[in-house]
Amino acid sequence: MENNPYIPKRYKILEVIPETNIDYTYRIEYDEALIPGQFLQVSIPKTGECPISVSDFGTGFVDLTIRHVGKVTNTIKELKKGDSLFLRGPYGNGFILDNYRGKHLVVSAGGTGLAPVKKIVSHFHKNPQEVSKLDVLIGFKTPRDILFKNEVKQWGKNKSINTILTVDRNDESWACNTGFITDFVSHVKIDDLNNMEVIIVGPPIMMSCTAREFLKLNVNEENIWVSFERNMSCGLGKCGHCKIDETYVCLEGPVFRYSKAKQMLD
Ligand SMILES: Cc1cc2nc3c(=O)[nH]c(=O)nc-3n(C[C@H](O)[C@H](O)[C@H](O)COP(=O)(O)OP(=O)(O)OC[C@H]3O[C@@H](n4cnc5c(N)ncnc54)[C@H](O)[C@@H]3O)c2cc1C
Ligand code: FES
Repeated sequence: MENNPYIPKRYKILEVIPETNIDYTYRIEYDEALIPGQFLQVSIPKTGECPISVSDFGTGFVDLTIRHVGKVTNTIKELKKGDSLFLRGPYGNGFILDNYRGKHLVVSAGGTGLAPVKKIVSHFHKNPQEVSKLDVLIGFKTPRDILFKNEVKQWGKNKSINTILTVDRNDESWACNTGFITDFVSHVKIDDLNNMEVIIVGPPIMMSCTAREFLKLNVNEENIWVSFERNMSCGLGKCGHCKIDETYVCLEGPVFRYSKAKQMLD
């Protein structure tokens, strides 16, 4: 029973940070090793379980940024500092920082897709010497939907990062551009195509369209990375919920090079 990988463990909520009306970051006491882009299975006894990406982590904590959309996530909304959550994992391959060190890195994130890549951007924001150049393209529906406002502001002030924040519909409550992320791909100045890595995370349509824009600029599909927030259940390659064709997203992903992901996105 002790080693049953399906049995979650109880963890304490250290802090609840509101991001928007429906998105909250839960800082949870946690000390296991994590990679940006990995996910944990979060459960509430007698209610259910759902996969959530790690949005940040450090000594003794992990952050999970959760949009309250349904049965499990709306139950999590009732939880406060000091309450417990049940977690199992971590699962998935994640984004390996070494793949991006020394490179011109472009991170494109749409909506909650910013959560799994936030740790990568904050890492290179703090250690800009580790990349040759960093562009961050972030898109939300409206200014009310913007996640991690403080961090995005800090990235914007960092002269080593070209941060472009855009919204589909602007109401002028936050200074940002209007338009889709794809409209801003041309703002990325490419010095050396052979030294580029592009990460794209968001809804499938956003990932396809953004990848196509980078392909038009002749970025190699091997150097484009996407992450799938697809239906998952066991996280262990057993149930088949996450399977696309022959690929178990929970085991081989959720992060894939576009050269492999392109068939899975169609
Ligand atoms: C690898 C991975 C990483 C993820 N990371 C994150 C993350 O970092 N943050 C995050 O917020 N989410 C993330 N998700 C998505 C998250 O797992 C889902 O939002 C979650 O599973 C929803 O669970 P739930 O029980 O609250 O919702 P459910 O009750 O399962 O509902 C899910 C959706 O179905 C709709 N729905 C529910 N009931 C009905 C109904 N009767 N008829 C029609 N529609 C209905 C809801 O409106 C909602 O849109 C991730 C998913 C994956 C696979
Ligand atoms: S989630 Fe069960 S096989 Fe991938």
